[in-house]
Amino acid sequence: MKHLKIITEIKQYPNIKALPDEEIELLHKAREAAKKSYAPYSNFKVGAALLLENGEIVTGNNQENAAYPSGLCAERTAIFWANAQYPHIAIKTMAVTAIKKGEIIPSPLSPCGSCRQVMIETETRFNTNIKTILDSQSEIWVIDCAKDLLPLFFYGKDLD
Ligand code: THU
Repeated sequence: MKHLKIITEIKQYPNIKALPDEEIELLHKAREAAKKSYAPYSNFKVGAALLLENGEIVTGNNQENAAYPSGLCAERTAIFWANAQYPHIAIKTMAVTAIKKGEIIPSPLSPCGSCRQVMIETETRFNTNIKTILDSQSEIWVIDCAKDLLPLFFYGKDLD
């Protein structure tokens, strides 16, 4: 019997100003997107901004529904929109934030499992890494690729 260990590396920045300029801009776009979320049931407004390989930034936010499971997270709203509009262009970076009671959340939100699985499919599809920037009032976390967020993901190639 062997023990396997999985290590996830997270870069912690003390605040938004400590990030490179390109990432500051992306996080600001995520914050703007969060304000436009449709979250009347949870009042938890999530925003995601994606930097594509062609330099474009696309954003998304959570879209809720009275039939709760019919809603969609901000991350997947943004990723599916980007992949629908730009099917041949990779996503380089994703910034995510959330607003509760009018304030950015106190500690970083981490994308849900379904969003991580979708991020990994996009990484695999374009053979690139998606860097993820997670916003909060106290610190900013940066994770270099989605596979670090979901190491034991379901690998589509297993279906072959
Ligand atoms: N939500 C996101 O948009 N992204 C996440 O990573 C976690 C949760 C949304 C779903 C729902 O609209 C609300 O936040 C509360 O769960």
